[in-house]
Amino acid sequence: MFLFRKRDNKDIDMSNLPQHIGIIMDGNGRWAKKRGLPRSAGHKAGAESLKKIVTEANNMGIEYITVYAFSTENWKRPKAEVDYLMNLLMDYLINAEKTLAGENVRIRAIGSRAELSEEMCRQIEKTEKLTADRSGIVMNIALNYGGREELVNATKKLCRNVAEGKLTPDEIDEEKLEQELYTANQPDVDLLIRTSGEQRLSNFMLWQVSYAEMVFVKKAWPDFKPKDLHECIRIFQNRGRRFGGI
Ligand code: IPE
Ligand code: IPE
Ligand code: MG
Repeated sequence: MFLFRKRDNKDIDMSNLPQHIGIIMDGNGRWAKKRGLPRSAGHKAGAESLKKIVTEANNMGIEYITVYAFSTENWKRPKAEVDYLMNLLMDYLINAEKTLAGENVRIRAIGSRAELSEEMCRQIEKTEKLTADRSGIVMNIALNYGGREELVNATKKLCRNVAEGKLTPDEIDEEKLEQELYTANQPDVDLLIRTSGEQRLSNFMLWQVSYAEMVFVKKAWPDFKPKDLHECIRIFQNRGRRFGGI
C-alpha cells in the first residue's frame, strides 16, 4: 500500500500543493442505483470514501479541506433520506473524535445551525472542541451550508455592527466581509473538485472559490480514491494561475 502510494504520487510537486481543497461529494445516489442498491447505501459508501480522502489529504500536508455534506437545498429530499444523512453525519462526528485522533484532524462544521437538531448542534460543538487543539488538517464539514445563506448571514452581521455604531458603511471592505463568513481567517479554496460529472457549484462557497481551479471528475464520490485526489492535484499543478495578471 505504502509503495503504491509512493509511486502513485511521485510526480506531485510537494512545494506547490493547494492550501485549501473544496470537494462537492456528488453522485452517491447514482452510484447506488447502478448497483441496484438503495440511495442510502451510496451515502454510506460515500462516508467511507470521505475518511480515506481526508486521511490522504492530511498525510500529504494539505492544510484545509472543505467537504460539501448537506446543502441548504438538500432539505427538499424525502424525509427518510434527510434523516439517513443526518444520522450518518452524526456518526461521522462521533467517530471522528476517535478515528481521526491519530491523524490530528481538526473538525469544524460550517453552515447554519438554526435548522439542525439540538442533538446535532451539541455533537458539533463537542467534536469541534475536542479537536480544536490538534495540529493537522482543518476539515470543514459543510452541513446545512449554502453560499448564499452564508453571504446573507455575513451581511446581517455587518449591518448590525453599523447599526450599533461599531462600523461605518464606508469601512466595509472585502476583508471585513470575509471576517463574517464561516471560513473567517482561512485561505480561499484553490482547488475545487466535484465528482459525478456535474459541472456546477450548487451554492458551494460562492465567495471562496473566486479564483479556485475547478476539476470535474466523472466518477461518483464512492468511487473516488486517493489516486484520484493525486490526479486532481496534478491537474491543479499544471494549470497556469494568473489571478487577473498576465
Ligand atoms: C451527494 O450525492 C450527497 C449529497 C448531496 C448529500 P447525491 O445524493 O446527490 O447523489 P446523486 O447526485 O443523486 O447521484
Ligand atoms: C450538492 O449536490 C450538495 C452536496 C454534495 C452536499 P446536489 O446533488 O444536492 O446538487 P444538485 O442538486 O445536483 O445541483
Ligand atoms: Mg447529487
